[in-house]
Amino acid sequence: MPLSNELMYSLHPLERTVLSNIGDGAIKGICASSGLGEAEVLTGAHMLQQRGLAKVIQADELYFTLTDLGKKYLKEGLPEQRMLDEIRGGAKRLADIKTVSKEEVSPALGYLKRNNLITIKKEVDGLLLAATPAGNAVIGTNPFSFLSDEVPAVQLTAEQRSAIALFKERGLVKESVRKRYRVELTSEGKAAAAELAVSKIELIDELTEDVLKDKSWKNKAFRHYDVGITTPIGEVGRRHPMVESNNILRDIFLEMGFQEMSGPIVECAFWDMDVMWIPQDHPAREEQATFYLDGHSKLDKRLVEKVRAMHEHGIKRTHTYKGEWSEDIASRRLLRTHSTATTFRVLYRLSEEARKSGKSDIDNGKYFYVAHNFRNEKVDATHLAEFFQAEGFIIGNGLSLADLMGFVKEFYGKLGIHKIMFKPTYNPYTEPSMEAHYYDEKMDKWYALINSGIFRPETLEPLGIKKTIIAWGMGASRMAALLTGKMSMREITGATCDFEWLKRRPNLIRSIASREKEPAHAGVKG
Ligand code: PHE
Repeated sequence: MPLSNELMYSLHPLERTVLSNIGDGAIKGICASSGLGEAEVLTGAHMLQQRGLAKVIQADELYFTLTDLGKKYLKEGLPEQRMLDEIRGGAKRLADIKTVSKEEVSPALGYLKRNNLITIKKEVDGLLLAATPAGNAVIGTNPFSFLSDEVPAVQLTAEQRSAIALFKERGLVKESVRKRYRVELTSEGKAAAAELAVSKIELIDELTEDVLKDKSWKNKAFRHYDVGITTPIGEVGRRHPMVESNNILRDIFLEMGFQEMSGPIVECAFWDMDVMWIPQDHPAREEQATFYLDGHSKLDKRLVEKVRAMHEHGIKRTHTYKGEWSEDIASRRLLRTHSTATTFRVLYRLSEEARKSGKSDIDNGKYFYVAHNFRNEKVDATHLAEFFQAEGFIIGNGLSLADLMGFVKEFYGKLGIHKIMFKPTYNPYTEPSMEAHYYDEKMDKWYALINSGIFRPETLEPLGIKKTIIAWGMGASRMAALLTGKMSMREITGATCDFEWLKRRPNLIRSIASREKEPAHAGVKG
């Protein structure tokens, strides 16, 4: 088959080396004749393989070496040899034999007797050993001196093979396997090797300053680079899918004109619960639901009194929490259970700023925060003790549930999520409260997306806010699961996450529709 010129001009130096030193294909042989190391030759061979010019075949090599005992006997001679050497000159009593140790005596005797090399006579003062004519004729060479170096099995003669079988039984020889590679050229590879052998083409692999200066490029050709060839995928650092997914949410908020907030993870109950009118006997406050920390936080006196009044007396037109409100409970430190804590810190800051600048209310605005939160929950496929929420709120005049629904539809529409159902729900701090669920055709399942509502006046009045605020917390961990197409959070984070998938998965794109095309599902176990 005629070779393309392109091929001859594009061979890498390592490929050329392997082709022109191919011999019988053994890597060792190619190394020997080319002077290259094994790793380089293998690289060249693999490159040829990628082009379909060669196959790299792993042919494990069996070889033999001496054990420590074998090495000792190689030096001192086998016990039977030593014994025979001592009696060759004339019969000797066993007790007088010096060079054979106690443990070696019976195997040595057994061997010599079996092979008719000695006679054994029982006498009153012990055994008398004498060499037979055959024994006297044995020349004292070591029968396994060929093993002084490791010997590949393929190089052994039939005789050596059977000798080795015996020595192995006696623990003098051991067998090992070593990975060996061989290169086998395909017919195209053979043609390339043949052409290379007669080719007059001299290639320059790299354009360097010297090549230009000494004009060595004259009468030579530059190697053509094959930009289509695949290369091994490097190990590079990359973002975790959770972070990537959070960044997608963040980008959407920024695009929609939201400002980013941030707040502390270590909170106190006041900001996490009391300021938003969550009663002090609410089940969410129990130790089973919240991670409490040691210590108490200092609270803002002025705000504390307003919040206390709201808890104890409420607003006339709503029901009232009866009983005493405890500042001690409110100041307990905890890991933030939701980022609404930060929402209220920001609302307080905005209200203070408005107050200081003599404004009657806070300005309209839109805020968001993709935040890390903690709940003392039983861990399962959809719940972890730590999770991400995308918190947000919009301040306006007379905002309604319709505005909230509009926001939810627009936001999720940008993620390719369209079939949305709204459902009333309950939050102590919003009224009305609303959940949104999404129907996933592929999974044939409804997923909860968001918990939301309009902040109750009981939460805003202590802050002096009269405007309407629509607010929500969306499951950001859930979004990561939807965008990656993973069924369970445990496939995305933690020890059960598939490391290969983390490294090789395609980057997330801003649509759950991306799941259809991406091979990330290969990472789903079971
Ligand atoms: N804090 C709520 C949660 O964790 C979400 C929410 C935020 C609901 C703001 C209403 C208003 O589920």
